[in-house]
Amino acid sequence: MAKPMKKLFVKTYGCQMNVYDSARIADLLAPLGYAAADCPEDADMVVLNTCHIREKAAEKVYSELGRLRRLKDAKAESGGRMLVAVAGCVAQAEGEEIVRRQSAVDIVVGPQALHRIPEMVARAERLEGRVLETDFAPEEKFDSLPGARAEGPTAFLTVQEGCDKFCTFCVVPYTRGAEYSRPVAQIEAEARRLVERGVREITLLGQNVNAYRGEGPDGEAWNLAQLLRRLANIDGLERLRYTTSHPRDMHDDLIEAHRDLEKLMPYLHLPVQSGSDRVLAAMNRQHTRENYLRLVERIRGARPDMALSSDFIVGFPGETDVDFEDTMALVREVGYAQAFSFKYSPRPGTPAAAARKQLPDGVKSSRLQALQALLAEQQHAFGKSCEGLTMPVLVEKRGRKPGQGVGRSPYLQPVHVDDAEHLIGTIAEVRIEHALTNSLAGSLANAAAQRMALAH
Ligand code: 5AD
Ligand code: SF4
Repeated sequence: MAKPMKKLFVKTYGCQMNVYDSARIADLLAPLGYAAADCPEDADMVVLNTCHIREKAAEKVYSELGRLRRLKDAKAESGGRMLVAVAGCVAQAEGEEIVRRQSAVDIVVGPQALHRIPEMVARAERLEGRVLETDFAPEEKFDSLPGARAEGPTAFLTVQEGCDKFCTFCVVPYTRGAEYSRPVAQIEAEARRLVERGVREITLLGQNVNAYRGEGPDGEAWNLAQLLRRLANIDGLERLRYTTSHPRDMHDDLIEAHRDLEKLMPYLHLPVQSGSDRVLAAMNRQHTRENYLRLVERIRGARPDMALSSDFIVGFPGETDVDFEDTMALVREVGYAQAFSFKYSPRPGTPAAAARKQLPDGVKSSRLQALQALLAEQQHAFGKSCEGLTMPVLVEKRGRKPGQGVGRSPYLQPVHVDDAEHLIGTIAEVRIEHALTNSLAGSLANAAAQRMALAH
């Protein structure tokens, strides 16, 4: 007899690695009869795949759990049942505390115990009480996860997890554990499967992706440059990206891969966090402002059109006006295509949270505003510099307007392209006509050329 269909809703918070894990959760639960629900109201099971990086992200989870409590109670009143699971980094960091704060939670599963979720759900379904797993076993996790599913022409592929850097503000080394890299053969097999299913662009993911050291086919430890060169040989795979990189691990062979590999896109997310040496040292970033600037120079020497992106933290404990001005000056010197910036958020258990010189929220807010204004200006200028250029766009999905396709430029900007819906899944040459706030608008290069010819 076929299993009765049950509905699953997975809500994802935080980084792209959580996006990858959420897709694996759905794959793992499909054999138990769970199909995707459009909203929590329709679901028999809701999974919150959570993020603990800043306080706001963690608090959002608790307010969502409050809403789910009411939904769960309403379901129970009408004779139904809903399971609630908390996965991801809040699950790892807070464990049983979650159940204490919110009794609606049936399952707590850390990122490294994800592969055990089917068994945990089965136990929860049998009403065996709360089920908790927060062990670290990355090897076992990847050995038992189903390979990434293809949903369109782009895909994420986790190649590395965890971090050994211990920046003093960051919870990742505690929630994701020590660095672990998947073997090259396992990654290559997953990449080939994705390409067979129509994927044209793969983004390799890792908290510290450029620290990748995975077992190669020759039994030696391979680095990210070697992995990229290997994957670039896969026919049908047109584009490669990777994120997130640490400046300390940006070695020459990886920079050379950007010079040599046409498939490797000219976009690099290289977080600097601060432009002040004093703050960088207090953050335990293990690089100076000068190291970073010279690195950017070398990268641009290898790939002159490289678009750079970064993360910034403002209001780190003890950050002075002068320190902050150093950050602003660094931004002006580098010129970013895109960036993320955050107010420092003290995270329990991290060294910086215990520092005495915590800054008032007002100071953090005004610095953040100033930095974001500068970054927005740079992003706009970068978009403007693309106007009039023709560039390859991987068309990913339909746009809002009829017939329109939306894809990404080599520099990761979203591009809206008229009359390109039929090109979804392929790379089209697009003439960029306008830079919008967060995206570009263009038309197919052939069509643009025809219009120009007609106008003359
Ligand atoms: N407060 C604010 N931002 C943080 N990040 C990490 N930890 C914190 C924190 N405690 C930011 C960093 C990192 C990005 C993913 O999140 O900029 O690169
Ligand atoms: Fe966190 Fe620093 Fe590791 Fe990045 S490198 S994950 S910021 S500890």
